[in-house]
Amino acid sequence: MAVDRERSVVFGQAVDLYESARPGYPDRLVTEVLEYAPDGPVLEVGAGTGKATAVFAARDLDLTCVEPDARMAAALSANCPGVRVEIGIFEDYTPDRPFALLYSAQAWHWVDPERRWDLAHAALAPSGALALFWNHYLVTDPALRAALAEVDHRHGVSSASLHQDTPVRNEESRHLLADDPRFTDLDERSYSWTEWYDAARYLDLVRTISAYRILPAERREPMLAELGSVLGDGVDMTFVTELTLARRVSKPF
Ligand SMILES: C[S@@+](CC[C@H](N)C(=O)[O-])C[C@H]1O[C@@H](n2cnc3c(N)ncnc32)[C@H](O)[C@@H]1O
Repeated sequence: MAVDRERSVVFGQAVDLYESARPGYPDRLVTEVLEYAPDGPVLEVGAGTGKATAVFAARDLDLTCVEPDARMAAALSANCPGVRVEIGIFEDYTPDRPFALLYSAQAWHWVDPERRWDLAHAALAPSGALALFWNHYLVTDPALRAALAEVDHRHGVSSASLHQDTPVRNEESRHLLADDPRFTDLDERSYSWTEWYDAARYLDLVRTISAYRILPAERREPMLAELGSVLGDGVDMTFVTELTLARRVSKPF
């Protein structure tokens, strides 16, 4: 499926919401990705405001981040002062060294599907690691989750991140990587934790999701009001990070 370019750049309009409402990523994921990867320079694709960058940068890595949105990139540089930031899409980025690890958090699906695997292969050193992960946002109570999903459904909105416990993006990546002789050592991990979100923060989280952001305000705001009336004070959220790992084979292709 082609990337929806209009949708891929809606995040920069919501930097503050993104910062306050989106969950981060678990430290254990960083530990396990770094155990899997060889030592050396690290590349992040689609770093946004640095939600994943911050946990990786804390490990004292030589880290380069590619991020096309100038507003996201400004927040990224402020949040993670030690990292190199390249403003632009990954498709236009020319790696200046072979990377031991390329990771992408909640962003790999925005890179051109016809080119993303070639680009990853070209950026990685032989035996370098590819780590692709996405967060899933689940309202813990199944009845409340169904009621909120029903409002979304009625308004014709669906997102791969909210209310979906099937990791479709990881599954697609796994299938493609399994069929690609340039990659080997496929592995998958899953991490989950819970967090209380008051109603306002839940609605802010929804406001950061591209499927909702692209709605015109006159459709989005009544829908959010409806969600608000279902929510009550707030919700216990279960966040699940699904990780797919692969390694570039050592022989040249
Ligand atoms: C959902 S956000 C994820 C941001 C961050 N990684 C996180 O987990 O919070 C997706 C990010 O991908 C960026 N992006 C969109 N198209 C891209 C592309 N072609 N190459 C690199 N990044 C892209 C967007 O600007 C946005 O910052």
